[in-house]
Amino acid sequence: MTTPRRKVIIDCDTGVDDALALVLCLKNLEVVGITTVGGNVGLASTQRNTRYVTEVTGYTHVPVFAGYDRPMLEPLRDASYVHGAGGLGPIEVPEPKKPLESRHGVDYMIETYMAHDDITLITLGPLTNVAHALLREPRLAGRIPEILCMGGSATFGNATPAAEFNIYTDPEAAKIVFESGIPIRMVGLNLTREQRVTPALMAAAEAIDNDVARMVARLCGHVLARSGGTGSFCDACAVMWLVEPAVITKSLKLHVTVETRGEFTRGMTVCDTRPYAGAAPGVDIDRQWQSEPSLPGKAPNVEVAMDLDQEKFNEVLLDTLRRYSET
Ligand code: BDR
Ligand code: CA
Repeated sequence: MTTPRRKVIIDCDTGVDDALALVLCLKNLEVVGITTVGGNVGLASTQRNTRYVTEVTGYTHVPVFAGYDRPMLEPLRDASYVHGAGGLGPIEVPEPKKPLESRHGVDYMIETYMAHDDITLITLGPLTNVAHALLREPRLAGRIPEILCMGGSATFGNATPAAEFNIYTDPEAAKIVFESGIPIRMVGLNLTREQRVTPALMAAAEAIDNDVARMVARLCGHVLARSGGTGSFCDACAVMWLVEPAVITKSLKLHVTVETRGEFTRGMTVCDTRPYAGAAPGVDIDRQWQSEPSLPGKAPNVEVAMDLDQEKFNEVLLDTLRRYSET
């Protein structure tokens, strides 16, 4: 691993793919703290699942906080139909020994960022906690150096034809975050759908003799059974951009806005690709447009991941799992 260890706070709604993202981050980055939010399943489960993952991985010194249990304006519509009732597929999570921190996750975020301005924020769930933190302490916008966000899409959605789950769950929160001026790197469904959870990946994880790899193999089994070979570990794709940047092979700087009012498009991340229409081979998003004139497009505010090296993804994941065998 050539990447220097970077300090991060992770805000997540620990379901199946968040768990894998945590496995990658805990081993390869310096995780300062983890805040949890209601999303894939309710907050009671996401904070518990997160503490469970820190126990399985042996990173119980990393504090885990509970944040908000519901979106800013709407009730939570969870994704237990994807992640299972408890959030970690077939894994029945026992009550962890590691306690939940008593402070609210948003208080933790504000206190930590007002004291430190060198911690990347990774978001793997709805952006509710981050938006509340920004509303309560607007100076945070100048203190968070970067947000790496799994959310949105430059193409299609999953929660609706237009919208991805994390953004769709709390569009108002996403709008606040995307308009905050904080540099954002976005890993959306257009990218994560290039990653495939395969029987071969599951078998390779099963062959590694430690508890973390066994947990990951079970999570692979869940995704395979549910999706019939078309499932992805979306949140793990996102954190790869920090863990091993070579996994993301192409990104474009785009203007991205969050739709909050559309009858059919609420929660859509509207990506302005016009600056790249006809720009250059290899950068252009659609060379057929080369001769089509268009208005220039808005100034970029987000770097959007566009292509992924799936072999490299598997290599980094399996290497990380093997390193969990080291004492
Ligand atoms: C995202 O939504 C959740 O179901 C996953 O954990 C991921 O963060 C994918 O749309
Ligand atoms: Ca998630």
